[in-house]
This record gives sequence, structure tokens and C-alpha cells, in this order.
Amino acid sequence: MTVAFPAAIPAVIGHRGAAAVAPENTLVSIRAAVRAGATMIEVDAKLSRDGIVILMHDDRLDRTTSGSGPVRSMAYAALARLDAGGWFGADFVGEPIPTLADALALVQDLGIGINIEVKPCPGRDAETAEAVLEVIADRWRWPVPPLLSSFSVEALMVLQRLAPALPRGLAIDVPPADWSDIAARVEAATLTVNPDAAGDATMADFLATGRPVLAYTINDPAQAAMLWGKGVAAVFTDDPGRIAGVRASASAVGGPGNP
Ligand code: G3P
Ligand code: MG
Repeated sequence: MTVAFPAAIPAVIGHRGAAAVAPENTLVSIRAAVRAGATMIEVDAKLSRDGIVILMHDDRLDRTTSGSGPVRSMAYAALARLDAGGWFGADFVGEPIPTLADALALVQDLGIGINIEVKPCPGRDAETAEAVLEVIADRWRWPVPPLLSSFSVEALMVLQRLAPALPRGLAIDVPPADWSDIAARVEAATLTVNPDAAGDATMADFLATGRPVLAYTINDPAQAAMLWGKGVAAVFTDDPGRIAGVRASASAVGGPGNP
């Protein structure tokens, strides 16, 4: 059963919150995205050593926190003491690594949509998907469900088996020859794609499936406008304020796409 995302996907999705203006995958970044006009954000979810779902993109702590080493080697209690903001700027010193539960609470308070990208550390695909679902079951009360996406087919298959009613997005970087079969197998409602890796012909194939196509990571307003013009439903952007401005002018002159 393919479950469509039940609401219009906004044309602009804040990537990792608003990664250009605040430290990615933090609560302050989600708030910044909303201040900039985003009505949906994307975050990356992975597990601490002891199975707590946190927001983090990289498999290692070094780039975006005051810690170092693999995320999977550290228990949540230790992760919670790290600084996930100071690397980005002095204004953000002391910003913690949020749990997914923290992020869901904030997103519901703000009344926005969320795309949770399940981003397992190597070898933790199934357990990460399971843990994400547990957090959603515990914490999610907002009527519009989260969109759950992943590059991991294993994670998507777990999501499909355990939570068939939640919409799933297949994320694709360099498209494998069998991407269409995979999308069918995981009953993907949406496709998250990298237009620079896919190329024009495959982008057209993605669009021809009829699934909403969500393109990452688009920080150039001209590229965003071009993608919307081709029928791409949404762009993930680090700078929602900048891209939303372009969207507003495109809509004012009758541009295509979602509201
Ligand atoms: O989900 C869209 C995008 O976030 C995928 O790439 O590496 O930024 O997580 P990445
Ligand atoms: Mg992501």
C-alpha cells in the first residue's frame, strides 16, 4: 500500500532546519527555518550507542559538535553534554544535540510539517528505523504525519513492514539502474533526489512516476525556480528565507507547483 503524503508538500523545505543560518539539526535551526517562512523542515535521525534517536547528519561527531569519534560509540548521556552549536558561531554556543523526541515536540508546537530522514550509522539500518517509529508512536499527535525518508532500502522496508500507514520517501543520490523497482518495492510516496547527480533525463523519469519529487540541496534561487518549473514539488534548502523569496515572486506571476 503506497500511502500518499496527505497534505500539500510545501515548495520549500528547510534542510536540517535552516543549515545556512543556524547549526544544522538543532532546535534553534528548526526555529530559524520557521522564522524564515518554512512550513516544513527536514532533519537527519540516527542512534546513540544506547538506542536513543538523535538529530545528526554525519556518522562522526567531529564536524558538528564539540565531541569526536563515531556517533554510534557514545551513549546518549555523553552526547547530551556536547555542544552542537559553537562550531557554527559564537551565538550558538551551548546548543545541545536534540533527541528526535525534542524535535517532534517543537515541530508540533510550531505547527509545521517534518520530514524525518532515517540516516543510520553503518549496520544500524533496521534498529534505527524501529527506534524512529517508537518515538513517533510515543510523541506524535499532530494530524499530518511525518514523512519518513531514507537512502537505506533496508530501513525503508522496516518502516513499510512496521508502519505501512506512514508515508515513505525513497532518497536517491546517484540513481541505481533499478531505482524504479526499489521505489515500487518500498511503496514510496515521494522521491527525494539530487538533480545534479541524476541528470535531466532521469529527473524526467522521476517526475513521470507521478510521485512528488523533492530535490536536494538547492540553495541557488535560479535552480529552485528551474526545478519548480519542471514540476519538482519541493526543494530542500539550507536557506529557506532566500529561496522562499523567489518562490513568492514566482507565485505572484503564476508560477507552477504547490502552494
Ligand atoms: O533528505 C534530503 C537530504 O537531506 C539528503 O541528503 O546528505 O543532506 O542528508 P543529506
Ligand atoms: Mg538529510
